Amino acid sequence: MIKYIGSKRTLVTRIVAVADALRARTGATKHATTACDLFSGTTRVAQGLKQAGYFVTANDLATYGEVLATTYIEADAKRVRKRVLAEKIARLNALPGHDGYVTRTFCEQSRYFQPANGRRIDAIRDAIEEVADGRVERAVLLTSLMEAADRVDSTTGLQMAYLKQWAPRSFNPLTLRMPELNAGRGRAVRQDANTLASQMDEVDIAYLDPPYNQHSYHANYHIWETLVRHDAPEAYGIARKREDCRTVKSPFNSRVKAWGAFSSLVRTVPAKHLIVSFSDEGFFAFEDIVSLLEDSHGEVAAIPVSHKRYVGARIGIYNPRGEKVGKVGKLRNNEFIFVAGKGARGVLRDMQAE
Ligand SMILES: C[S@@+](CC[C@H](N)C(=O)[O-])C[C@H]1O[C@@H](n2cnc3c(N)ncnc32)[C@H](O)[C@@H]1O
Repeated sequence: MIKYIGSKRTLVTRIVAVADALRARTGATKHATTACDLFSGTTRVAQGLKQAGYFVTANDLATYGEVLATTYIEADAKRVRKRVLAEKIARLNALPGHDGYVTRTFCEQSRYFQPANGRRIDAIRDAIEEVADGRVERAVLLTSLMEAADRVDSTTGLQMAYLKQWAPRSFNPLTLRMPELNAGRGRAVRQDANTLASQMDEVDIAYLDPPYNQHSYHANYHIWETLVRHDAPEAYGIARKREDCRTVKSPFNSRVKAWGAFSSLVRTVPAKHLIVSFSDEGFFAFEDIVSLLEDSHGEVAAIPVSHKRYVGARIGIYNPRGEKVGKVGKLRNNEFIFVAGKGARGVLRDMQAE
């Protein structure tokens, strides 16, 4: 899985346990329970819910997010032609590299990948359009390429800058692997969360994990967006970001707009229960969330979880010249999982009793 700021990798088990506790209190079976992850990112949480047996819709605004969701949520491991895919991956792995947009932009004008790997990324990316048979296969092959590129990049996990000294992993040859698909049904969507919430059918559980500060995911992960779109946009600045990073904005990245977008989402989303991730480093105040959720869903409980901050904050922040900029801040931030809807306080008691 790719390195992703805000990924809930370490919280998946607890979030799924909350969903299970809610379901147990309503007496529904897992297969009859529908869940929606409206900001699915890496799809870690959506995958946890799918693996636990829920029917999951995974949504994200990012094009690469839709590709990950198609691979890990929409694709059913039991129906995918794995042998065919494995052969295609082997063929792609054997392709000689050639110069293209990735080599020029991310290896010569900047230093995200070693040129030999950049050339292979270009060759494999071009070939995927020819070899992929349908939407799911295309997504699986693109996921495989994104994950392979992520394993040999030279960043701290954000694409706003690259390291001055090549990361040791960047010297490894790029190698595609077969993504580990999940059995079961699900759906991948790419929509603004508020738009989707106003159009979707009712679900039992909606999980909300919006961006919590001004840093745009579109800009932080511009290389994945470009790789998936295959569109060779104008690039600017030392980071060689896509031109549209100047204009593509999510309301959740704006201090002025975020609360309006979030409160409208909470009131609109047709979900019996909400599970909401919250960090004390974001735009929202704990008390404001509690009263909003009480207003919309009645019962509310807050489960404290603590989270290590992303690797950049732990090793320090460096500019492209390799100079340390800024100070290393606190290394843990306070996170909560809010649960809202009938039985929420009982869920908190169940979790405390464990
Ligand atoms: C905190 S991350 C979610 C991380 C995810 N839970 C995980 O474990 O990987 C927030 C996500 O919201 C997406 N996003 C930003 N604005 C959005 C919007 N208006 N509608 C839907 N998704 C949005 C970003 O692309 C990003 O993937």
